[in-house]
Amino acid sequence: MAKITVQFACADCGTTSGRWLGKCPGCGAFGTLVEELHGSPSGTKAARPSTPVPIADVSADEADRISTGVSELDRVLGGGLVPASLVLVGGEPGVGKSTLLLTALGAISRGGRRALLVTGEESAAQVALRAARLGGAEQVEILAETELDTVCATLEAERPDVCVIDSVQTLHASALGSAPGSVAQVREAAGRLLRVAKESGVATVLVGHVTKDGAVAGPRVLEHLVDCVLQFEGDRYHEHRILRATKNRFGSTNELGVFEMTAAGLVGVPDPSELFGTTHPGEVGAAVGCALEGTRPMLLEVQALVAPSDLAMPRRVGTGVDPKRLAMIVAVLGRHAGVALASADVFVNVAGGVRIEEPGADLAVALAIASAARGVPVREGVAVFGEIGLTGRLRQASQAERRLEECAKLGLATVIAPAGTASRVSLRVAAAETLRAAIAEGLETASASAVGAAA
Ligand SMILES: Nc1ncnc2c1ncn2[C@@H]1O[C@H](COP(=O)(O)OP(=O)(O)OP(=O)(O)O)[C@@H](O)[C@H]1O
Ligand SMILES: [Mg+2]
Repeated sequence: MAKITVQFACADCGTTSGRWLGKCPGCGAFGTLVEELHGSPSGTKAARPSTPVPIADVSADEADRISTGVSELDRVLGGGLVPASLVLVGGEPGVGKSTLLLTALGAISRGGRRALLVTGEESAAQVALRAARLGGAEQVEILAETELDTVCATLEAERPDVCVIDSVQTLHASALGSAPGSVAQVREAAGRLLRVAKESGVATVLVGHVTKDGAVAGPRVLEHLVDCVLQFEGDRYHEHRILRATKNRFGSTNELGVFEMTAAGLVGVPDPSELFGTTHPGEVGAAVGCALEGTRPMLLEVQALVAPSDLAMPRRVGTGVDPKRLAMIVAVLGRHAGVALASADVFVNVAGGVRIEEPGADLAVALAIASAARGVPVREGVAVFGEIGLTGRLRQASQAERRLEECAKLGLATVIAPAGTASRVSLRVAAAETLRAAIAEGLETASASAVGAAA
């Protein structure tokens, strides 16, 4: 019988303490320590040594990966689910986590594998309703259960190929006195499920709730524990959803999956450029950039608004762009490209709720801001990419050829890229040495007299 002890654990970071403290010693947050009843093992078994083996003797095959049948999900996972791995899928309420995973389970079960859905959030009947709407999930087995011991025992006995736990916050270990969803419970559930996944070879997917700042709720240790953390994001008011990996032990974390929410479930969008990379001709403050997300080049519309401001420190607000990068681009525009923004608020938005993180998208942001500041639209059929240096010179972006191919595929006429970008595709590449030259090339009637006219 486990001995029950009282512990205080930080609700943010999971740091534990024997007594209550006002400030968490782990993360420095105030008032986050909550009392938890914690079961500790009543004694350790005598340890027996084990024999290590050379890596060469370990059999592992890339082909063992289980395809989820949802190509965008496979892409983000790095080619499918790895057997015996633990994947955490986080996302805002209603973003479509259950829908995505039920679709995947349906496809897995149709492929002749056993797929189990453990639902603690919805009743079996509710899941059946969704399954009927989505279609193709008749073979998926379902277990409506929140008791952790029962779930683990079922997994060990049944050994399905893939199991989805929806959600980890509803699981409840009765040995612990605290409520389901508390730090101790979530940590216990994840730890136990990890052991079962590795021992029984079940590829397990945990659904996790997110806190209001977007992190997966529960202790930080949860993210360390699992093999893969996927974030399902998207505007609930738009039908597009974006799945990205923030941690992946078996693949790149730069990959991105794009979905569209329809009545028949989530449909993968294999060609997001078509969706996100179109601007209205003649519109001021919009530019098309070609950003690279993992191995996938993607055309994105970047919009900017430049408005006069009386603030001593004008605002630089970016949605989907890194604020530091935005501040840098605004400074370089002012200093090296003659776009004065010192007394103007600058707002930048990336279409479709996509976040751009790579420097190759700098030029698109700069061109959109320059267009907004000067009140001159970007030329029609123009896309841009390139990194902006602090000296105002453009630096070459990685994988330029793939970006150019994507632009050519979408029928763009001209691409403005850093000097030295070679092209084998049939579209005009306007090479620009500096940011100033790129803006002159990109804007429709950018005459010298218009420089600095806005704001
Ligand atoms: N009949 C329908 N037609 C179109 N879209 C629907 C329909 N029913 C549900 N949806 C979409 O599915 C979303 C809910 O999906 P789902 O239940 O998979 O989300 P979730 O992330 O699991 O949410 P939670 O965190 O509450 O479990 C809704 O926000 C809605 O956009
Ligand atoms: Mg759900």
